[in-house]
Amino acid sequence: MTHAETIESRLQETRKFEPPADFARQAHVPSRAAYDETRRRSLDDPESFWADIARGFHWFAPFSKTLEWNLPYAKWFVGGKTNIAYNCLDRHVAAGRGDHPAIIWEGEPGETRKLTYRELLGEVCRFANALRSIGVKKGDRVTIYMPMTPELAIAMLACARIGAPHSVIFGGFSVQAIVDRVEDAESHVVITADGGWRRGKIVPLYQNVDEAAARCPLIKKVVVLRRTGNDIPFKPGRDAWWHELTANAADACPVEPCDAEDMLFLLYTSGSTGKPKGILHTTAGYMVHTNYTARMIFDLKPDDVYWCSADAGWITGHSYVIYGILSNGVTTLLYEGAPNFPDWDRFWAIIAKHQVTKFYTAPTAIRSFMREGREHADKHNLSSLKLLGTVGEPINPEAWIWYHEVIGGRRCPIVDTWWQTETGGILISPLPGAIATKPGSATLPFFGIDAVIMDRAGNVQPPNSGGFLCIRKPWPGILRGIWRDPERFQKQYWSEIPGVYFTGDSARQDEDGCFWIMGRVDDVIKVAGHRLGTMEVESAIVSHPAVAEAAVVGVPHEIKGNAIAAFVTLVTGTQPTPALRDAIIAHVVTQLGAVARPDQLRFSQAVPKTRSGKIMRRLLREIATTGEVKGDTTTLEDFSVVASLAQKDEE
Ligand code: WTA
Repeated sequence: MTHAETIESRLQETRKFEPPADFARQAHVPSRAAYDETRRRSLDDPESFWADIARGFHWFAPFSKTLEWNLPYAKWFVGGKTNIAYNCLDRHVAAGRGDHPAIIWEGEPGETRKLTYRELLGEVCRFANALRSIGVKKGDRVTIYMPMTPELAIAMLACARIGAPHSVIFGGFSVQAIVDRVEDAESHVVITADGGWRRGKIVPLYQNVDEAAARCPLIKKVVVLRRTGNDIPFKPGRDAWWHELTANAADACPVEPCDAEDMLFLLYTSGSTGKPKGILHTTAGYMVHTNYTARMIFDLKPDDVYWCSADAGWITGHSYVIYGILSNGVTTLLYEGAPNFPDWDRFWAIIAKHQVTKFYTAPTAIRSFMREGREHADKHNLSSLKLLGTVGEPINPEAWIWYHEVIGGRRCPIVDTWWQTETGGILISPLPGAIATKPGSATLPFFGIDAVIMDRAGNVQPPNSGGFLCIRKPWPGILRGIWRDPERFQKQYWSEIPGVYFTGDSARQDEDGCFWIMGRVDDVIKVAGHRLGTMEVESAIVSHPAVAEAAVVGVPHEIKGNAIAAFVTLVTGTQPTPALRDAIIAHVVTQLGAVARPDQLRFSQAVPKTRSGKIMRRLLREIATTGEVKGDTTTLEDFSVVASLAQKDEE
């Protein structure tokens, strides 16, 4: 799909849904007029706007300055001392809400656990003490590679409590991904589990860490949660069982007063080079941004049972499973496993069983549910739901309407939230009681967010003209850098259009000011909502001994949004065979994990490049999508390769 086609198809979408009146009546932001008024105030004086919100948290020392902005470096709440784990837990217990459920957990096999705020605080303190007992100090990066269990949240919060930044690695990533991230973060401690449940099978988390540790001497200590109970080659000395470490740990633990700008976590994400980048977030700005956006956009109320189905290994899990929700004192639901285990109605069964009120998921999941048919949802009583959300990729109007009708019973507002790992929290989204929604549009910027569409030269575009989505002013949750790579930080986000934050997305604003996101303009592909770099996948392919060169593109896919198509040139003398194709695909999965598995892999004599040596991805995308080439090939170096690429290799 070209940009022009995207614009056209979205322009045809004219349906508009006003906020339901009974929802609006009880909402934090109850009308369009209220949104407009607050938004004006937030843009006129963003600093006092955010300072007022920040004062609602617990500070060990107050901040003296709201914002220090030295482009591209922002510091928020300068001089303040606080702790996000304290604000997520101790604060609510002190306010008398210790018996309120903090976490409701459901494991894939079906067991459930509830932890009140008081119990969660106790567990976090015990584990924080355990971390200290194995020598973890403030500033040490701790790697977390765990299944979606309460202990994953406990581990993150325990790190935050003692000021040790966490680096969570998604459990679907494999060995090489662990090695790369541990090395880049210089992390000596890894927290993992014997395994996790996924579609009835055990994910070999421990084995992956064990292999990573064999390749990476930096790993000195591995803490292992017993989750699945399978046999593992436990290494006494290097390894410690979670339950043994915490057995005698006290359930009180002094909290570390962190500077507002102390690093809270690193989260690795794909960019337009072969190497994932460590996105750096700090304490206070991230806390204020995730807390306030969660409260307003999900319209959180004390008795909500909120469920975001994202894994904590992604930014969505950090911001809107853990920190933004617990800091509001609301119950957050965690589910360990797959949406279709044992059957396609699992999510709806969970919603009905736990009386979930707010549900947040990805368009790719919604499209899979749609394909499987509404009968799975119709089996369950979903009347507890009050609000639905989506995140991670554009939602097609058809899926939006299905979500609205089948899951939301036409009564729940839908918040289509646009943001990124780098933004820390949501920047563009409807406010459910105030903004009329349009299927496929993330609608309007949040308070204090100065979002615009620009051309390459930095000119703001008129309504309905496509361009680059940029943000002109810093916001509290903005990334503070790329770990150990200030140049890449400057280049990637602040140099494409000097002086503004460059998101890497193309979009347009319609005549009502609503944003319609069209997709990435860089070499990042969103596959089933997961962010992958084309060059990252290319280097994984090239590391197979039979491969000389590779080029990867994203092609439209009905369920996943995009799928990966790979073009592979073999080393001279190697025969292209179906077995070799399978072996290369399997190799990518071992290197990066199943999320990066190419859907198509074609052998070609060479990869088409421009005279300056850039892979012609547009052309490859066209071949992978249509099987032929019509586009402009004038800058192509070697025409003959095009013909050979277009010939689909025989199965
Ligand atoms: C895309 C996920 C359209 C976008 C929180 C962005 C979206 C990238 C939306 C960031 C949305 C996210 N509509 N596209 N509502 N939300 N995106 O870092 O391309 O995994 O740049 O963060 O996802 O992906 P990331």
